[in-house]
Amino acid sequence: MLQGQRILLIVAGGIAAYKCLDLIRRLRERGASVRCVLTRAGEQFVTPLSLAALSEHAVHRDLFSLTEESEMGHIQLSREADLVLVAPATANILAKMAAGLGDDLASTLLLATSAPVMVAPAMNVRMWEHPATQANLATLQGRGIHRVGPAEGAMACNEFGMGRMAEVDDILAAMEAFFGGHGRLAGRRALVTSGPTHEPIDPVRYIANRSSGKQGHAIAAALRRLGADVTLIAGPTLEPDPLGVTVVRVESAADMLAACQAALPADVAVCAAAVADWRVAEPAAGKIKKTAGGKPPVLKLTENPDILATLAAKGPHRPRLVVGFAAETEQVVENAREKRSRKGCDWIVANDVSAAAGTFGGDENRVHLITADGPQATEAWPTLSKREVAERLAERIATALETAS
Ligand code: C5P
Repeated sequence: MLQGQRILLIVAGGIAAYKCLDLIRRLRERGASVRCVLTRAGEQFVTPLSLAALSEHAVHRDLFSLTEESEMGHIQLSREADLVLVAPATANILAKMAAGLGDDLASTLLLATSAPVMVAPAMNVRMWEHPATQANLATLQGRGIHRVGPAEGAMACNEFGMGRMAEVDDILAAMEAFFGGHGRLAGRRALVTSGPTHEPIDPVRYIANRSSGKQGHAIAAALRRLGADVTLIAGPTLEPDPLGVTVVRVESAADMLAACQAALPADVAVCAAAVADWRVAEPAAGKIKKTAGGKPPVLKLTENPDILATLAAKGPHRPRLVVGFAAETEQVVENAREKRSRKGCDWIVANDVSAAAGTFGGDENRVHLITADGPQATEAWPTLSKREVAERLAERIATALETAS
């Protein structure tokens, strides 16, 4: 999957820079080409000679270098990359990226590039936790920058906590997920809905629910890791965009349905979003005023379109496999079976969302997978992390599509 990809690696000044040497070697083993940019601080940790020897390309360090600019100008360098990877990404370079500074070659390239950018943050735990760093990351992620790590662990400064750069294996896995490629689902298109919907009452208020989007986002990421071309239609959630996935952000159920229809055709659709069942029939154009002694407003609700049932309905664009979710608080399996036949989907993943189960917002999920009528077609999965549920489901989807075609 990394074969033939052109990686522009920006090495900033952190002790984790030493891991880059191995990273370059491993990228090249996988057939990627690597060009390196070293910041001034980065030079304190690794030498240009090591980077040049491993990448077999000159290392770029100066914004105003006559030789470098005449051989390959910084704009060209930033354009001729399939991915720009900043590793280690220090608090300083993240701050510069967030602010849009271009005061050296690395930051100027990051401003000039139209290639996707991935950062592997590495810093002391206090710098990582600082509100400025967190705000900068939020800004960058809001702009679609991909992030891998950091991890928790012992640090070079003898402290313990978040901030260690992701291991080389994890960075490679993230890059492979980003480029997709030769997995079992390569060449397949997948559509995933995730998160809650917000149904406006007026311009400032809305009706929402407790869905975090963790499970749906994990499914999109797992399908991608198997090589699918994934479009994730996400309601308002704090979950970061999964690597390599096309994310369409929506607010209301009506927007979500329109975005799903625009993303068709697809081989598989997984509807994991907690779509609001009702919306306010006529949202107010201006903020509804609270008048002293006045009565509270009465909201007239109307039913939302059922996205799952719409996608599962017979028609030329029906995905070959349509998977729904059934969030239940009682009689989980019975209700889910009934839902499967009522909505016309092929599979349904039933999960217990009673408060005791802690599914909403939690990291674990205990699900039943119902693939057909009858008790034999119901599998009880053990308690798994949402990521593991997603991975199992993605493998099952791959098997089903392989069998069907
Ligand atoms: O009817 P209920 O909301 O319990 O059904 C859950 C399943 O239906 C989920 O897969 C959810 O994503 C989907 N759904 C939908 N559109 C709606 C309501 C539910 O896609 N309006």
